[in-house]
Amino acid sequence: MITERNQACDLVIFGAKGDLSKRKLLPALYKLEKLNKIDKNTRIIAAGRANWNIQEYIKIAKTAIKTFLNEELNNIVWKKFSSRLYFCNIDVHEKLHFFRLKNILNQQKNIAIYYCAVPPDTLSSIFEGLKHANLNLISSRIVLEKPLGICLKTSKQINNQISKYFLESQIFRIDHYLGKESILNLFALRFANSCLFNNWNNHTIDHVQITVSEEVGIEDRWNYFNKMGQMKDMVQNHLLQILTIITMKKPKTITSKNIKNEKLKILRSLVPININNAHQNTVRGQYSSGQINGKNTCSYLEENPKKEKSDTETFVALKININNKEWSGVPFYLRTGKRLAKKYSEIVIFFKKNPINLFKSSNLKNFQNKLIIRLEPHENITFDFLNKKIGLDQEYQLEKNKLEFVHVFNENPKIFIDAYERLLLESMRGIQALFVSREEIEASWKWVDPIVQAWKKNQENIIELYPCGTFGPKKSDFLINQDDRFWNQFN
Ligand code: BG6
Repeated sequence: MITERNQACDLVIFGAKGDLSKRKLLPALYKLEKLNKIDKNTRIIAAGRANWNIQEYIKIAKTAIKTFLNEELNNIVWKKFSSRLYFCNIDVHEKLHFFRLKNILNQQKNIAIYYCAVPPDTLSSIFEGLKHANLNLISSRIVLEKPLGICLKTSKQINNQISKYFLESQIFRIDHYLGKESILNLFALRFANSCLFNNWNNHTIDHVQITVSEEVGIEDRWNYFNKMGQMKDMVQNHLLQILTIITMKKPKTITSKNIKNEKLKILRSLVPININNAHQNTVRGQYSSGQINGKNTCSYLEENPKKEKSDTETFVALKININNKEWSGVPFYLRTGKRLAKKYSEIVIFFKKNPINLFKSSNLKNFQNKLIIRLEPHENITFDFLNKKIGLDQEYQLEKNKLEFVHVFNENPKIFIDAYERLLLESMRGIQALFVSREEIEASWKWVDPIVQAWKKNQENIIELYPCGTFGPKKSDFLINQDDRFWNQFN
């Protein structure tokens, strides 16, 4: 068996009591253990405000892993994994508490990785506490969860603050979509296949659709979500990242710096949407009560513990243009929403119609080749094409067909790699390619902020209600239909 030759790390998880740590980080680390990907001397140090002793924490970690793992716990793996666990009682607002962490870290000279699974308003206390105890060594790394700020200004504040204590090469900003197998596969699809590579531009592509449709609501995160809305929670990060990977130029090498530079160029070429054009290019919606999978589901406003009014959007649709040589003239239609009819995500590339139609008798004149890259619920890729219908008809009759590639994940869910597994491993390897740079984050906010401001000012952009269990507000259909195009139907 090949054992990963990682350097030994001390992975410190701030926010050990939180949902992310229990739901995602612990199960992902356990899976890495099972795959033998963690160095034998690596330790996992959970840090949080709780008076747990290590035995209590181990029990809590075991319950979390059992609950959120998609397989049975293996006792041998668990024994090895649990022997790495430490717990450090820290109130991050108390600078002196960081010396407790220092005592644990000083027992071994491992590379320290500080994973901040905490709300953004806690970050500055962590940076300062680490500095106070002189724990921001040049060998250390820090991992930051999204969202980094709630607008360009706040994001810059966080970035300025962290840059006082850590170099850019030490900072790992997470967007978990970049750890998804199907997103990484976009690089292979686009850059390893010359037939796609040579046809991936405005000469051949008519338009692109990106849909991230969620069945879940806001899941007890009212305070967080109501400040953010779907635009800042999903579009500013996940959807714009997908868009950049679909449209970036081929990087000189498949390394962090070159990939980030190419993505950044795209973010900086997005045609601005603001008060003047938000009405034509954006739609926002909020779910009202309805049914999902036959179950009555309450409205967004009913999820508010205080039952106050809110015009935070739970659905966004956008028409985006990119101002560069390769993509000018190709609209990108993006939509994402909560409490929709089905959990599914896909990227659909519509190729231009065939300008010369030899097959006059065919009733498929308006056919467009379509490449569907599906991320959820199953990872697969399909390509719609035309071929001859079998028969002795005097004239050619055409029929639609599909080429389909089903990812091996779907046949064997046990080999499924969660995004967090990959991203945690990359942070332990010290490789930044799958993390987002400061410039990218700030360029995204710079593009997103004027849209949010336009919504606030522009009375025409009134939020439209959509019942839970539908595919969003009617205006979202209108956004694309007015260009004589249609959302790809899920089937
Ligand atoms: C998170 C958002 O970043 O991504 C959530 O905060 C959202 O609101 C989630 O539900 C979606 O992630 P995934 O991997 O389930 O598509």
